[in-house]
Amino acid sequence: MDIGCGPGMLTIELAKNTNGTIYALDIHEAFLERLNESSNLENVNEKIKTLNVSMFSLDENFTEDELDLICSEGSIYIIGFKEELEKWKPLLKNDGYLVASEISWLKNNLPKEIKEYWDSEYPSMNNIKDNLEVIKEYDYKLVDYFKTPESSWFDSCYSPLEERVHILYKTYKGKKMGRGSKKSSLKKLKCIENTANITVMCFI
Ligand SMILES: C[S@@+](CC[C@H](N)C(=O)[O-])C[C@H]1O[C@@H](n2cnc3c(N)ncnc32)[C@H](O)[C@@H]1O
Repeated sequence: MDIGCGPGMLTIELAKNTNGTIYALDIHEAFLERLNESSNLENVNEKIKTLNVSMFSLDENFTEDELDLICSEGSIYIIGFKEELEKWKPLLKNDGYLVASEISWLKNNLPKEIKEYWDSEYPSMNNIKDNLEVIKEYDYKLVDYFKTPESSWFDSCYSPLEERVHILYKTYKGKKMGRGSKKSSLKKLKCIENTANITVMCFI
């Protein structure tokens, strides 16, 4: 199962490299539709079942010991690393695996602006050492972990996103938009970008 699958880059790779059924779960229907289109193009649609289900209600939709593998890339923070390790474990088979990426601090002395931003967005964000302790605490056996490169923040995420913020505000110039001003959107993006060298997405 790919939790918080988004448009499904990881789901498609899983489908190409395994023989099982893959549940791709997200609450944004447009992403699931895109995944259905790309899985058709890639000829792996029969292996993938898209589900518009929240990660907060997995226990209502899956039974204990049902899953061989849970993957979650860039999505655990939504529920919280600790909570996720605890809640999802019963759904895994005894010899099942959890593969996840989690944003983790690399440094202790954090610039004020960045600290304030992440304190409001993800207050329970930890460093790697503490995350490894959490893994032990919830009785998982760590197979491996690695730090993702800084480029993983930019190449297919924040650089294209920044370009689209400019296009969005140009297209809708003079119109009222729901969420913040261009200045505040770009400030938020800059803050996330400046975080890249002091955090990692860590795969475990
Ligand atoms: C940062 S994106 C990661 C997407 C994808 N895994 C990737 O790496 O490209 C987080 C995803 O979690 C989804 N999401 C947000 N809240 C969710 C929830 N309660 N249950 C399931 N998915 C959720 C979002 O719609 C989004 O697709």
